[in-house]
Order: sequence, then structure tokens, then C-alpha cells
Amino acid sequence: MIRIGIIIGSTRPNRVGEGVAKWVFDQTRKRTDAEFELVDIKDFNLPLLDEAIPPAMGQYSQPHTKRWAEKIATFDAFIFVSPEYNHGTSGALKNALDFLYKEWNNKVAGFVAYGSAGGTRAVEQLRLIMAELQIATVRSQVALSLITDFENFKTFKPADYHLGNLNTLIDQIISWGTAFKNLHQESGTIATPMKKPKITEERPTGIH
Ligand SMILES: Cc1cc2nc3c(=O)[nH]c(=O)nc-3n(C[C@H](O)[C@H](O)[C@H](O)COP(=O)(O)O)c2cc1C
Repeated sequence: MIRIGIIIGSTRPNRVGEGVAKWVFDQTRKRTDAEFELVDIKDFNLPLLDEAIPPAMGQYSQPHTKRWAEKIATFDAFIFVSPEYNHGTSGALKNALDFLYKEWNNKVAGFVAYGSAGGTRAVEQLRLIMAELQIATVRSQVALSLITDFENFKTFKPADYHLGNLNTLIDQIISWGTAFKNLHQESGTIATPMKKPKITEERPTGIH
């Protein structure tokens, strides 16, 4: 059985994201085909990235990085619950993603987002970031409207149809997450270290 982390992408006081993530978690209680855990980035007190060596090199030095890495390493897949800030995801979620590398690699993710346009612009941005972190993203997503799924933009009252999308999203994560499990276990989620390209006549390759 795979383990899925439901990651709360907002760390703001008065955030609505916590309620959304708890709704996602409540729906998973009825399922017996995967293990689920709520992960609050806020609990890890991550500062702005303060590692001297790029995370893809896998040499974490700070206690908060090691603690965050230990938690993320326990999961096979993720559901990111993301707000939309200025048409992107939150700085807090981007920073938490940037802190690690190998712990994300060869895993699977899906998205539950919210905003005036369902948080879709934040998710499009997240899908690009996931490609670099070597996380495969499933098609189904939950797009919650701040206007119709929240009262006064605060109290979360999702329309019933979102449950169908959420269950499809979870089905897809479990199916891909199970298929990917061997891949990230065999590779030990070890990322290929970045190498300085040789300067030759030819065009250098492998620059990220
Ligand atoms: C810095 C900032 C930028 C925002 N930009 C957008 C935006 O581009 N699109 C949108 O739909 N909502 C935007 N909003 C509104 C948020 O979607 C709304 O405040 C939501 O509650 C944020 O999620 P949170 O409460 O979980 O932090 C923005 C809010 C903040 C704080």
C-alpha cells in the first residue's frame, strides 16, 4: 500500500487552506487502498532557503532541512493543496519544494487548488515545477472557486461535484503511485548530481 502526503500549501494566519486540506483528508478516511497523512509546512518552520549547496547535490546541512527531508521521504505520492497568489502558487510551498530534491524524485502528485479561477493558474505553474523535481502529475484536479465554494471567501462549503473529482484524483494517484513505487525505491530516490558541463565545440547538454 502506498503512502500519500496531503500537503497544506499556505502558512498564512487565517488561511483557508487548512480547512480545504482537512476536507481532503476527511474524504480519504473512507478509503482502505492507501495510507494518508496531513502535512503542514507551517510545522516545519522552514526559513527562506538557507542551504549553501543546491539541494540536488543531496548534502543537507540544516536541522530543519533534515527534518523536512525525513518526512517527505516517507511518502510515495502527494496531494498538494495550493492557494493562488498572484497567479502562481504560494511562496511558502515553492520554498518548501526548493529545499529538497531526491526526496521528491520518481514520485507522483495531484492538486487541489482554490482561487477566483479555481487556482488553475497556480496548478499550471506547479506542474512545470514538478517536471524539474521528477514528480509525475496526474490529470484530474480539484478546482475550488473562492466565489461559489466558500461563504464570504472564508467558510469552506464545497459543491458536491468536487467529491467526484477528488476521488478520481486519488484513484489516479494510487494507480500511478503504486506503479512508481519500485522506481523510487530502486533508485533510492537518489538524484543524478548536477555536473559542470565541459566547454567544447559542441553544445553542452544536461543544463537544468
Ligand atoms: C498575496 C496574495 C495574492 C493573491 N493573488 C490571487 C490571485 O492571483 N488569484 C486568485 O484567485 N486569488 C488570489 N488571492 C486570493 C487568495 O486566493 C485567497 O486570499 C485565499 O484565501 C488564499 O489562500 P489561503 O487563505 O489558504 O492562504 C491572493 C491572496 C494573497 C494573500
